[in-house]
Amino acid sequence: MDDALRIESLTGSAILPYLDALARLRITVFREFPYLYDGSLAYEAEYLATYGACAESLFVLARQGEAIVGVSTGIPLAAETAAVKMPFEAAGLAPERVFYFGESVLLAPFRGQRIGARFFDAREAYARRLDRFNHTAFCAVDRPADHPLRPAGHRPLDGFWQRRGYVRRFDLRAAMRWKDIDQPAETAKSMVFWLRPLDRGSPAGGQSLSHRGDTGGPIMKTGS
Ligand SMILES: CC(C)(COP(=O)(O)OP(=O)(O)OC[C@H]1O[C@@H](n2cnc3c(N)ncnc32)[C@H](O)[C@@H]1OP(=O)(O)O)[C@@H](O)C(=O)NCCC(=O)NCCS
Repeated sequence: MDDALRIESLTGSAILPYLDALARLRITVFREFPYLYDGSLAYEAEYLATYGACAESLFVLARQGEAIVGVSTGIPLAAETAAVKMPFEAAGLAPERVFYFGESVLLAPFRGQRIGARFFDAREAYARRLDRFNHTAFCAVDRPADHPLRPAGHRPLDGFWQRRGYVRRFDLRAAMRWKDIDQPAETAKSMVFWLRPLDRGSPAGGQSLSHRGDTGGPIMKTGS
């Protein structure tokens, strides 16, 4: 068996066979704080429809042999739902100029090997290659500091995101709904957006890209 980890970028219809893998990874990984997502395949199907319908969606896969151990996603913000676009429009930022990152989810045993950094590299390189965006952006859930399920010693990703050049914009917020693992029903969460100007001058990164693409509610689309 091939144990080497490989990173592969896919767009358009090439992402469709991996929607299920992403749904399962999101349900597993987002149970952790700060997301605490008590996921269901029905919720996932609604969320993933947006990505499946856009020919310019990007999936960056981390694979070990046949197993998909991580996925990171991106999509032109203009193809996102109204709830995600609205804060940008309200702030005078045209969605057509923003490339949006849906999430990065990596199984815990594979963390700490710079795969998260490579997920950013691949998505920023792709956004640059599309050559019409001024910013890359994502959002993250804003949990209270005294949340009862915050693990002792929890290390947020804020420092990593800042080192990648992202700035948290408290003026750009959206409400998204999902069911927390300790709640009986869905509740609204406050999501805060992070933005980085996209340096369009530099050449695109070296990820291989399979593009067979010709296909074309406030829900959980959480961050880097
Ligand atoms: C986000 C995620 C994909 C990063 O994966 P990764 O491959 O471990 O990331 P990297 O090795 O590139 O490290 C990225 C940062 O994570 C942090 N980090 C790395 N290993 C860590 C560990 N064992 N424990 C805590 N933080 C760690 C570091 O701050 C690091 O940044 P730095 O090197 O600039 O200090 C992964 O942690 C994950 O799936 N987390 C759960 C889901 C999530 O929160 N996703 C982001 C929002 S959608």
